[in-house]
Amino acid sequence: MVTNQQPTLPIPAAGAALNDIIAKDCPTVLGVLSQLGKRFYFPAKGILSQGAEAKAKAKRYNATIGIATDEKGPMHLACVHESFAAGMNPRELYEYAPSSGKPELRQAWQQKQRQETPSLGDHPISLPVVTNALTHGLSLVGDLFLDAGDEVLVTDQMWENYPLCWETRLGARVSTFPLFDTKLTGFNQNAFMQALAERKGRKLVVVLNFPNNPTGYSPTRAEAGAIVEALKAAAAVGTRLVVVCDDAYYGMFFADDCERESLFGRLAKAHENILAVKVDGATKEEFVWGLRVGFLTYGVKNGTAAAYAALEQKTAGLVRATISNVSHASQTIVLKALLHPDFRAQQAEKVEILRQRAAATGRESRKSEYADCWDVYPFNAGYFMCLRVKGIEADALRLRLLDEHGLGTIALGKTDLRVAFSCLLESQIPDVFARIAQATRALRG
Ligand SMILES: Cc1ncc(COP(=O)(O)O)c(C=O)c1O
Repeated sequence: MVTNQQPTLPIPAAGAALNDIIAKDCPTVLGVLSQLGKRFYFPAKGILSQGAEAKAKAKRYNATIGIATDEKGPMHLACVHESFAAGMNPRELYEYAPSSGKPELRQAWQQKQRQETPSLGDHPISLPVVTNALTHGLSLVGDLFLDAGDEVLVTDQMWENYPLCWETRLGARVSTFPLFDTKLTGFNQNAFMQALAERKGRKLVVVLNFPNNPTGYSPTRAEAGAIVEALKAAAAVGTRLVVVCDDAYYGMFFADDCERESLFGRLAKAHENILAVKVDGATKEEFVWGLRVGFLTYGVKNGTAAAYAALEQKTAGLVRATISNVSHASQTIVLKALLHPDFRAQQAEKVEILRQRAAATGRESRKSEYADCWDVYPFNAGYFMCLRVKGIEADALRLRLLDEHGLGTIALGKTDLRVAFSCLLESQIPDVFARIAQATRALRG
């Protein structure tokens, strides 16, 4: 008899705590949970609970996936349909979309990717497969490229969902290297090269998230070139790399020397040992967080139409096996926006507002009168910036700000406080940093 035994992975403390609760009242239920079910938990600490939980709770989900038709096509309620802008065809809303995504949307997104990534030239890449926004794309990356025990290399400052996706769910290991050099001047190229050298000859998944969450850092053009060269050098000595470009905040670049292109462009044609995977989407780029439309795109030096089609089908198969397909209505809305003649201008207008907020944040947070309170991590892009607070715990500061100033921030680890300037009016920014300094000093006593 063939058995297919999975190695038993450790159960995280938060998962074990939930298991204890279930065991107390319903021991049989605990017994029937899978290993994955036993390991899992909802992250009770961190960004989700600190910041977005309220938003998540207020949001309505329609979890009913079904279709009925009448003679005009998909059946629909007028009171639902009139909520959408006039001119939407029921066929573009209520029918199932294919598991790989709406074909016109995949084409339009690829066109956009190519326009924004001149270094790609006419190198062949896959068509983007539509995902339920970037989280789903990152999760699919894990399903496709990570077995238990495999390693993912990420910067130490990273989106907190990576370990949940890849460690807790799949048993992979997330290893880190410091994003910044010790003087906080920019990307820590030496640490990156050292981390790659230590893993010479192995299979390795590397995640590059620029603009970065939580720090709001994106490499300069010089740094971007060095990152690509380091990966090429690692590939040349036999390291088999899957380089995941998490481009969630693509386009939000505020400093002149920021690299404007996704590193995917150069990596997709860099070396046979580098599979570049672009994880991107409409979520932040188009300011449609709740619509849940993202994309997974592959590029490799020796990539062929047949190999890309095979990768797309594997990806679509996993979409089919998990969520079946992504909301057709959301895909249609995103497609209409992409094709709209005013799309680029409207997007640029929003990015300009964020650029002005980033500039104000830079001025205020770096004022010399706050030098005793924190260091400012480099930031030049994205939605956020981070402070490294001095002499107090970041979470104590977060609570004080919440309780005494009605100011919501995110504490990360012992020292870091994330401020989303994307949620602040420019006029509010000076007061925000004045309050953070006031709370810091009050806590120090
Ligand atoms: C770096 C990064 N990647 C991916 C995501 C996931 O985005 P989505 O809402 O599209 O799933 C986020 C969301 O905060 C993020 O910050």
